[in-house]
Amino acid sequence: MIKPLGSDKLIPLYVADDAKRAALLKEAAGLPSILISSAAAGNAVMLGGGYFTPLKGYMNVADSMSVAETMKTTSGQFWPTPVINVVEDASAIKGAKRIALKDPNVKGNPIIAIQDVTAIEEFTAAQMATMTKAIYGTDDMEHVGVSTFNTVGKVCISGPIQVLNFSYFPSEFKGTFKTAVEIREEMGKLGWEKVVAFQTRNPMHLAHEELCRMAYEDEKADGILIHMLLGKLKKGDIPADVRDACIRKMVDVYFPPNTVLVTGYGFDMLYAGPREAVLHACFRQNCGCTHLIVGRDHAGVGDYYGPFDAQTIFDGISKDDLQIDIYRADHTAYSKKLDKVVMMNRVTDHTKEDFVLLSGTKVREMLGKGIKPPKEFSRPEVADILIKYYQSIE
Ligand code: ADX
Repeated sequence: MIKPLGSDKLIPLYVADDAKRAALLKEAAGLPSILISSAAAGNAVMLGGGYFTPLKGYMNVADSMSVAETMKTTSGQFWPTPVINVVEDASAIKGAKRIALKDPNVKGNPIIAIQDVTAIEEFTAAQMATMTKAIYGTDDMEHVGVSTFNTVGKVCISGPIQVLNFSYFPSEFKGTFKTAVEIREEMGKLGWEKVVAFQTRNPMHLAHEELCRMAYEDEKADGILIHMLLGKLKKGDIPADVRDACIRKMVDVYFPPNTVLVTGYGFDMLYAGPREAVLHACFRQNCGCTHLIVGRDHAGVGDYYGPFDAQTIFDGISKDDLQIDIYRADHTAYSKKLDKVVMMNRVTDHTKEDFVLLSGTKVREMLGKGIKPPKEFSRPEVADILIKYYQSIE
């Protein structure tokens, strides 16, 4: 299996030993503590699960700036986005060397991790602006990722962490939430060597399903890892449990057994387009995947990124830094002429009218009214689940 990023082995920061974890929890109860942001809690979950190998904790200001500007830490480790714990006010932990981090996403704010504090610094407004521009390609506060990034605070608490739990993800997404360690184990048991990963934050329609099948066949892969985002999304996006149900149904009915693993990870969506695609590639390599599918407007939002910017960003990345291959997909859609889903650039004799193209808004409208989109767009079993969901929120 492909090696993790910058390391021979995964480095999960979750304390798996029960006795050690119990002792740390006991210690944590007596430490100065601080409520962290949802983004920082997501970072802890990812670090805990080995997804962010070889990082050992939260970055300081110098590493964050270096990563934002050059995609490398000050010590030269490739990484595309700052992994930080920023707060508005750190006075509660002033002078402390070891602190407990409280999870904002679970009732009662239980402790999710212990951090050894190496520094407490503050990003300047100019540094925040530089990072924002570098990561998101824009500083428009209308961009949901930009506004989230700029409203959690500027005080940067850096240092290594020990993770004590995976937040709400294992209980809310039982059987779907997996760590990178678990994914490698499962793929190992299945004997998979060549694996294509599919990132998603949507229920999968026919174009997505066929995209996975195309990548699987083109790459002659052993399996497909469908890896869905389980963290927070913007308003209007479909909740993870509904997406999970759709994807599981689609895989059960339309894929042969043991060709697909349906899994998820606990992280909030950044909507950072190209930079997030690179982050996606890093943690899929850590899961043991040899390929990541990157299609149209990967991790995008609105019109902030060109449709294939998330592919071209990889042109400038060396194989020495990132080993996973990118399966670059053109827009996929159903061809009425050929009676199947195709990549649009592979059928040069087609005009727009030859494809079944439906906008997201149109599809939502149909589902809300209880109308199934055409079978060329969506599997009927998936449409049934989505209709039920949309009708429940009307
Ligand atoms: S996202 O997290 O990357 O935003 P989304 O679920 O929207 O997830 O898309 C999953 C993957 O499928 C991405 O790589 C995206 O580029 C690709 N994709 C989605 N729809 C299409 C399409 N019609 N044609 C080509 N690629 C697509």
